[in-house]
Order: sequence, then C-alpha cells, then structure tokens
Amino acid sequence: MGSIGATVRRAFGPYERHVSELYRRIFIDLEDLSDCIRGWTEPTAICEIGCGEGALAERLCRDFPDASYLGIDIIPHLGRMFEDERAEFRQIDAQDLAKEAAGKFDLIVINDVMHHVPGALRVDILKAAQQLLVPGGVLVFKDWLKRKTPIHAACYFADVHIGGDKNVAYMPLQDQRDLITSVFGQDAIVAEQSIKPWSQNHAFKIVK
Ligand SMILES: C[S@@+](CC[C@H](N)C(=O)[O-])C[C@H]1O[C@@H](n2cnc3c(N)ncnc32)[C@H](O)[C@@H]1O
Repeated sequence: MGSIGATVRRAFGPYERHVSELYRRIFIDLEDLSDCIRGWTEPTAICEIGCGEGALAERLCRDFPDASYLGIDIIPHLGRMFEDERAEFRQIDAQDLAKEAAGKFDLIVINDVMHHVPGALRVDILKAAQQLLVPGGVLVFKDWLKRKTPIHAACYFADVHIGGDKNVAYMPLQDQRDLITSVFGQDAIVAEQSIKPWSQNHAFKIVK
C-alpha cells in the first residue's frame, strides 16, 4: 500500500502530474534547483540517487540535453511520471550501483533524499556517490534544513502524514556540512546556495 499522498494523487488521474507539481512547489522550486546546477557544472553523465517518480529527472534531461541520465531509487515504479528515451531508471541502491559503475559519472545529484535515510546509512550513500564519481566530478547535495519555523512544521507534517515516512529526520546546516566533509574531506564543499522558495532548501556543490 502506498502513502496517503500517493493514493490521493493517483485519484486525480490525468491531472495527477499537475497536482504533484503544485504540491511539490509549495516546498521547492525544482526549476531553481536545476538552474543552480547549470550554474555549477556542465555534466556529460548524470546519476540521480533517490530519483523518486522523476520530477527532477525531467528538468535535468531538459537542461542537459547532451548528457546521459540514470535515476536510481529503492522504490518500485521509479521514474513513472517522466518517460523519455534518454532517461534510464533502475531500482538499485547506490552502494550496489557503485560496485558496477565506479567512476562512471561526472555529476551525482541527491535531492531531498537524506532526511528519508536512516542515520547509519547516510555515510554509506555518500561514500557510494564518491565512488560513482570520476575524479573532479561534482556532487550536488540538496536537503531540507532543520529549523524551528512554520514552514518546517508544514514540511514535517507533509513528509510524515502525506508522504507516509514516519522516520523522517532532518539535519541542521552544520550536521549536513559535517556529514559531507566526513566523506569528501574538509575542502570539498566549494559552493552553497539556497533554493527557492525557502532558505531551508540548501544546496551544496561538492567536488571529488
Ligand atoms: C522526496 S523524494 C525526491 C525525489 C527526487 N530526488 C526529486 O527531487 O524529484 C525522496 C526519494 O528518496 C528515496 N530514497 C529514500 N531512501 C533511499 C535510499 N536509501 N536510497 C535511494 N533512494 C532513497 C525515496 O524512495 C524517494 O523516492
């Protein structure tokens, strides 16, 4: 059985996509995120870890028309909202992909995934991202910052009660930095940017 959110969205039938986009836009402007990534790097081979149903995949394939795109996730039906012959989707975890595709990507994107990942696994996913990257490749890591604000309460409510993830756990900014530098090294973060419409959407550019 899926989450309440997924069930309600599916009930919209042909309008599901629009409803999903409107809902998602309350919390993050994916166009702004894709613009940010374009300003940071020019990839030829992209891997998105935790691609979900393909909302960001659609922007990345549009904005990087010459790059390959592989989206991976642990859920079934990944990429179901975006069908494009250039986009490949695989149900596999990052650690297993790293065993077969080390050094194959020059851009890894992890957007709004880490707060759904149990604490003990977070380092493993970042280590896998590091292995998947070519030397000099870029990881764009974007997550929601833990802060006591009304929109944070709304985001938590949405993740737990609409998205159905009872174990969601956000990190404050310094914890995100510490997690990243514990794997990639102290100097690996070369840029940071807030993504519209909330400063709690915080993106890092990390270079391997
Ligand atoms: C909020 S969605 C983000 C989807 C996509 N990144 C986007 O921006 O459109 C979070 C996704 O993270 C995935 N996820 C959670 N734990 C994961 C893990 N350990 N490995 C890969 N994906 C995971 C979930 O299945 C879900 O599809």
